[in-house]
Amino acid sequence: MKTSERLDRLPPYLFAELARKIAAKKAAGVDVISLGIGDPDTPTPALVSDALAVAAHDGGTHQYPSNRGRPELREAFARFYDRRFGVELDPETEIVPALGAKECVFNVNLAFLDPGTAALAADPGYPVYTGGPLLAGAEAVLMPLVPELGFVPDLEAIAAPDAQRARLMFLNYPNNPTGAVVPDGFFERVVAYARANDILVVHDASYTETTFDGYVAPSFLETPGAKEVGVEIFSLSKGYNMTGWRTGAIVGNAEAVEAYWKLKTNIDSGMFDAVQLAAATALDDGDHIPREMSDVYQRRRDLVVGALREIGVEVAAPKATIYVWAPVPEGHTSASYCEMVLEESGVVVSPGGAYGPNGEGFFRISLTVEDERLTEAVERLRASLAG
Ligand SMILES: Cc1ncc(COP(=O)(O)O)c(C=O)c1O
Repeated sequence: MKTSERLDRLPPYLFAELARKIAAKKAAGVDVISLGIGDPDTPTPALVSDALAVAAHDGGTHQYPSNRGRPELREAFARFYDRRFGVELDPETEIVPALGAKECVFNVNLAFLDPGTAALAADPGYPVYTGGPLLAGAEAVLMPLVPELGFVPDLEAIAAPDAQRARLMFLNYPNNPTGAVVPDGFFERVVAYARANDILVVHDASYTETTFDGYVAPSFLETPGAKEVGVEIFSLSKGYNMTGWRTGAIVGNAEAVEAYWKLKTNIDSGMFDAVQLAAATALDDGDHIPREMSDVYQRRRDLVVGALREIGVEVAAPKATIYVWAPVPEGHTSASYCEMVLEESGVVVSPGGAYGPNGEGFFRISLTVEDERLTEAVERLRASLAG
């Protein structure tokens, strides 16, 4: 069977081998603790599931949804952005709901890229920033994120030919996998760069609601001029414990939102109306949800960071996200370290190299495991690292 060239261009799935090893360990009776995937372990709050139950019993929600999204949800997003970020959005032209941030990140590539063009993508970064451009027949140009620069790309270092063929720039703060937050003034520089190079900025705001120590994450759209050059992708997955619900939105520049919508109407048929109404309830009445979840993750972050520091791993305590990004011990690559940890302690952590070449030398711990299991995992890591 011949698969498409488009599909053949994708790099091998780096987690596949790890997944096989985990399955083998489990089959051998090992009590595996996975700190690999960022999927909240506690259920979606009753406020949201109760709203879904009511909406699901209403026969008015059972037919094909409109791909524009229900006015109730678009208006709830507009109220949320105004209240939370002080950003005004027109629910008619500047907001389209998406089936999670992943769908949106991918489809933006199809909407804006052609062969010969490129997207600027953070390295390390969420894999769809690089896989998406390839599947769209275009290219991803990597922008290194390094600790010395606070894990923001050096815009000056982007080669002129790359800037010329780039139509998109993917950014993500608070950042997966590094846990970094955006430094003051960076978004302003991005707006100027995007204007000068005629690039659409796509800011992935999947983690703005999961923050610690009093830090409040900004929206890219708060930046003066941002709406002229960019869109933001918001997701309810992590902040509201709604990964399975597939709820998010693309918001911002009206022309870009319209292009995304035009593409989307040809691909899927929108979000179940009852889910849209439940998501609107989360946005309108659920400000406490991400705050409460952030307290949980902050406690877990302290647990993990404290244990790693005790055994000499120099790790920064992230101000946001559900991840701790730590350097692998000397003498290891990311992959060899993660394999060793699995082998010796039955704990799964993600190899940094899986997120891009500049992730090499790091590993990522996800905090989405209940405290007791996380404590157990940390004890095992401590034993393995100290040993
Ligand atoms: C940076 C980033 N963007 C997008 C996503 C996908 O989010 P969603 O569940 O909204 O599709 C993730 C999930 O891990 C992520 O880390």
